[in-house]
Parts: sequence; structure tokens; C-alpha cells
Amino acid sequence: MKVLLAEHAGYCFGVKRAVELAIKTAQDNDNKVYTLGPLIHNNSAVDMLKEKNVFSVDDINNVEGDNIIIRSHGVGKEIYDHCSEKKINLTDATCPFVKKIQKIAYEMYNKGYNIIIIGDKSHPEVQGINGWCDNKAIIGKNLEEFYLIDFNNSKKYAVVVQTTMPQDTFFAVKEYLISLGLTLEFYNTICFATKERQQAVLDLSKKVDAMLIVGGKHSSNTKKLAEIAKKNCDTFLIETAKDIDLEKIKTYDIIGVGAGASTPDFIINEVMDLINEL
Ligand code: F3S
Repeated sequence: MKVLLAEHAGYCFGVKRAVELAIKTAQDNDNKVYTLGPLIHNNSAVDMLKEKNVFSVDDINNVEGDNIIIRSHGVGKEIYDHCSEKKINLTDATCPFVKKIQKIAYEMYNKGYNIIIIGDKSHPEVQGINGWCDNKAIIGKNLEEFYLIDFNNSKKYAVVVQTTMPQDTFFAVKEYLISLGLTLEFYNTICFATKERQQAVLDLSKKVDAMLIVGGKHSSNTKKLAEIAKKNCDTFLIETAKDIDLEKIKTYDIIGVGAGASTPDFIINEVMDLINEL
């Protein structure tokens, strides 16, 4: 049996930076350090962070006087305002690529544009971006959702995209919006890290008998990787090496391993080691 790792797998630049900042902040502080929501969508990584005194809270009101870390997904303007009002120490680990989208939304909104976000409205990144335009963005994650929206030809629109959206979705929605004859400014803000991981999984899935996609079951970019791989070979979505069905895996000759941008290296290595032992 042979095991191959996708060319791009695991922590992206933004997540790596956020994890390092969180650990450093915890080391530099006596008080507890909190992240607003889990820093990454991966249970093992969350457990590792707890051991290093980094905890996750869902409600900013529970952290008065403590240190709060803004995760790579970013947050809306109201959270920054709340922290400065309540004198909460804020460490901003928003990914610079997400920060750029927030800046576009904020500036264009203040110039009188209506903001359109191509993205999932339940995703924290999208909710954070919306928080930079008074939560008034028009949000849709695919063409079907945009078909249902009434646009106004007398208004002007600035369009940004959630960093993890597929390029195809951006281009399809762009074409549709242009066909409506609207006044539009487009910003393709899709992050290359997502694309690289998707391309690497696509390439590898064509060369192997089965793929293991390692990542949090709630991580949208991990689920997307599994969807891509499934088109070419048997695919298993696992959170850790413990989830591997060893009997099943033994039936394949070549196994590929891909991992989402929020999967820590130590988990990828455990998976690779286990398959190599087989
Ligand atoms: Fe940033 Fe892209 Fe990662 S936006 S958090 S580098 S997936």
C-alpha cells in the first residue's frame, strides 16, 4: 500500500498566524485568554489550545476585563467598539485577506454602495463582513439564492466574495448580476489557500484509489475538499486517525491524504504514520 499527501494540505497562512498569536497571547498573560468562537473548526486543535490556556466563548459579554482574540474569520465593527468601551484587551488575529474584504465593505458602504456578499450567511466570516456595513449586505451563496433577490437599478452595488467560495460560483453570480444591467463594482476576494488545497485534492484524487480528507466535520472548506475528491474516488472524511476504518482502507492500493486549512500538522502526520504502518 502506498500513501500520498496532497501538495497543499493543512493550516493556511491565516489560521497558522491566528493559532500562533493565540498561544503567544496566552503565554504573555496571567489572565485567561479567550477566542470569540472556536479559533479553528477542529476539535483536536481546540483541545490543544485549552491545554495552553486558550478558551473559546460564544458571547463577548462573558469576557469583561480579560483578553480576547479575534479569530481568522474576523468580526463586525461592533465587537471592536464593545471591546474598547469595556476595556477588553483585543488581539486581532483576523486573516489579512479577510481584513481586506472588511475594508472594502466598510469603504464602499460609506461611499453609498450597497454591499453584496457572495457567501454563506451562516458563516462567521460573512457575518463579520456584514458587520462592516451596518449588517445591511445582500447575501447569497449560489445562483439560485441570487435569482430570488430583487435588485434596484437605481442603486449601485459593490460585490465581495467569502474567501472560501469556489471561483465558479463567483463567475456565475457575476455574469448574472451583469445581465441585470446594475451598476456594479466587483472584488474577487477568494483566497488562494482554499484554491490551492482544492486543486491539490482534485489532482491527487485522480491518481489514487481512495482519499482520506482530514479535518473538522463542521469545517466548510474540509467538506468542500471531500466533495471534490468524491467525484474521482472513494472518499472518507475523518477528524483524526482514530476515525479511519482500517479494514476498509486495507482494501485499497494507493491512498491519498488531503486536509483542510484548519487541520493541524500533528493530526495529518498521525494519519500518514498510521497508513504507512499498514
Ligand atoms: Fe486567510 Fe485564506 Fe486561510 S482567507 S484564514 S489564508 S483560507
